[in-house]
Amino acid sequence: MAQEQLFIGIMSGTSLDGIDVALAELNNVSCKVLATQFLPYPAEIKTELLGLHFPSENELEIAAIVANKLARLYAKAVQALLTKNKLKSNQIKAIGCHGQTIRHRPELEFTLQIGNSALLAELTNISVVSDFRSRDIAAGGQGAPLVPAFHKAVFGSTDKNRAIVNIGGIANITHLAKTGEVIGFDSGPGNILLDSWTRLHLGKDYDENGAWATTGVIHKSLLTDLLSESYFAMLPPKSTGRDLFNDKWLKQHLLYPECRPQDIARTLVELTAHSLYQAIANYCPVVDEVYLCGGGAHNSLLMNALKQLLVDIPIANTDNLGVGVDWVEAAAFAWLAKQTLENNFNNLPEATGAKGLRVLGAIYPA
Ligand SMILES: Nc1ncnc2c1ncn2[C@@H]1O[C@H](COP(=O)(O)OP(=O)(O)O)[C@@H](O)[C@H]1O
Ligand SMILES: [Mg+2]
Repeated sequence: MAQEQLFIGIMSGTSLDGIDVALAELNNVSCKVLATQFLPYPAEIKTELLGLHFPSENELEIAAIVANKLARLYAKAVQALLTKNKLKSNQIKAIGCHGQTIRHRPELEFTLQIGNSALLAELTNISVVSDFRSRDIAAGGQGAPLVPAFHKAVFGSTDKNRAIVNIGGIANITHLAKTGEVIGFDSGPGNILLDSWTRLHLGKDYDENGAWATTGVIHKSLLTDLLSESYFAMLPPKSTGRDLFNDKWLKQHLLYPECRPQDIARTLVELTAHSLYQAIANYCPVVDEVYLCGGGAHNSLLMNALKQLLVDIPIANTDNLGVGVDWVEAAAFAWLAKQTLENNFNNLPEATGAKGLRVLGAIYPA
């Protein structure tokens, strides 16, 4: 068996909650997360990043400056992890850095993750692999989701058909058939709409454990309207982002004066649960067990809503598969970086729709 090597994965997802860093000991079939570090985004960066999702004046310069700030934050998080674990930069083979998505427009043949990897390599003295999505798009794919390749490598089973459900800002599902076949796609909104609604009404980043949403009731007509979005009926492969599921999208459906803010919050929780349930029912052949990850796995209201819908299917967290719910994506980018360095294919055309296998990622040597 190949010798284990240390990689660092950095994920900063659509939720804009902050930076997840995972130190992973990898060989080709196993992934052991040895240490982790979370650095929340300062409010100022979060506001700047949200602004960059939509056209504005002088956005090129703003994006370049924010990319530098991000690289400094990534480097700070990496340094904190190294110091805490008494590691030196030369013990780390590479960093796999997702970057921060500010536009995802596969239909226009581009996706944009910022983060200045040159500066990150310079600041950490560690090789950086980034821009994983562009090559897949160049090959006709969606550039997303990329984590199914990692799920297949480390979470696959020959006994059970598994669905890995990652509830980040956007939610994505990987179906791992025991035969080895894989289906992967974004199901739609995870926490993104709920977070934004909570921010607007409570001034908080998110509704902890769905406490506020619990005080509301599901508005059936609103839920039906939200679920009528054509994205949900599209066959996989498919991917989405803030480009579609944003405040404007939600606002156009808010046509019921009797619906209180907490009712809308409760309905948004149900939208995430329902769209996941429908995606599993419609697009995943046979599912024997579901494993959850992503921040949404901490939302007890959302978990209960999902359990009520998936009555007969056992649900557990990815902790039971050896990677904690908050670290799967960061670990995946460590793994993707290793594949890039070894010139191994690391997209899954079944999940992205690319016309073939490709080696994704750009390398910035230390
Ligand atoms: N205790 C909790 N209760 C409710 N929601 C939570 C909780 N913990 C995390 N979250 C949700 O998880 C999100 C972060 O999830 P994450 O997997 O990091 O998403 P992303 O990859 O898009 O950044 C938060 O924005 C929040 O909505
Ligand atoms: Mg996050």
